[in-house]
Amino acid sequence: MLSDLVKQEIRSRVDRDHPEAVAVEALHIVRNHYGWISDEMLREVAGLLDVDPAELDGAATFYNHLYRKPVGRHVILVCDSVSCWIMGYESLVAHLTRRLGIGMGETTADGRFTLLPIQCLGSCHTAPALMIDADLHEELDEQKLDAILAQYP
Ligand code: FES
Repeated sequence: MLSDLVKQEIRSRVDRDHPEAVAVEALHIVRNHYGWISDEMLREVAGLLDVDPAELDGAATFYNHLYRKPVGRHVILVCDSVSCWIMGYESLVAHLTRRLGIGMGETTADGRFTLLPIQCLGSCHTAPALMIDADLHEELDEQKLDAILAQYP
């Protein structure tokens, strides 16, 4: 259930003539407060905006940072597109999964990291690349990756 604070924040953004225009922003507000968007939360947001929950779910599914399942404190999005594949995706993922003890789509037992794939991050010239939360990390190798992971408690 959404808190009064979150509902108020969403309502303050709503354009009464075009509530669907703030749908994605409203979902980001929920994600920022709770980390992810449950079915119940999504229905509540749809009710606040007076939009179809199925359409809102479609929007949530389209955006990479709107998580529909619980995630860890930090989400690692590993680019699996062509430049990153060529420049070492497989060894990078092998190192990550070994280091974190999880596979793609999973969350560490301590809730620290969730590991997810993503299509091109627009950083092909500095591949391989990944994002942790909103931070882009490029030209990665195992050593650099270990130092980066240590920055995320
Ligand atoms: S292919 Fe990985 S950033 Fe473009």
